[in-house]
Amino acid sequence: MADVSPLLAPPVEFLFATRLYRAEIADEPDLNAALLAACLDAEAVDAEGRAWSERNGYTGYTSFESIDDLARRYAAVGRLSEIAGTHAQRFARMLDWDLGTKRRLAMSSLWINILNPGGFHGSHLHPLSVLSGTYYVSVPPGASTISFEDPRLPLMMGAPPRREGCARESRSHVGVVPRPGSLLMWESWLRHEVTLNRAEERRVSISFNFSWR
Ligand SMILES: [Fe+2]
Repeated sequence: MADVSPLLAPPVEFLFATRLYRAEIADEPDLNAALLAACLDAEAVDAEGRAWSERNGYTGYTSFESIDDLARRYAAVGRLSEIAGTHAQRFARMLDWDLGTKRRLAMSSLWINILNPGGFHGSHLHPLSVLSGTYYVSVPPGASTISFEDPRLPLMMGAPPRREGCARESRSHVGVVPRPGSLLMWESWLRHEVTLNRAEERRVSISFNFSWR
């Protein structure tokens, strides 16, 4: 059957949009060097975090289960959490969230990820939060992308695959290549994974969650 003429084609409305927020933090040139120093210092002093990473098969170091006051320990991390807070407010407006007056968006956790060459982080989401995100400190050439998964994927019984090279909004998985200074944010239910780090150097990032409380 011939394609329907564009003039006769019924309009298609996009519903239930999944938004990915991206900002490039370029106006604070000293921030990244200070953040990198903070991440390396945290790794050096955090024996508990290093042991947790080892026990749990994390290829590198994460402070996820060991340090909960990075923003107070390191001024640069404190500054990053302020920046993330500003962007979270902006993203919440883009999402048309009505936050009300009795509750507010608050950063509930922030942690360091230092991923060694050959490391990855399997598919997951961030329960009990409303917004999640990552700021990229060091992204060497060939370092992992972050890949997001269509949240409806488990419901697509019998759905055909997508055409090769189709538009990003039609894909079931979308990879994003961050740069040093990139800040990504998404709604916490959005499943994502960090692909294999093929770089020869470590990939350093700082992740965070916001809750509404
Ligand atoms: Fe994550």
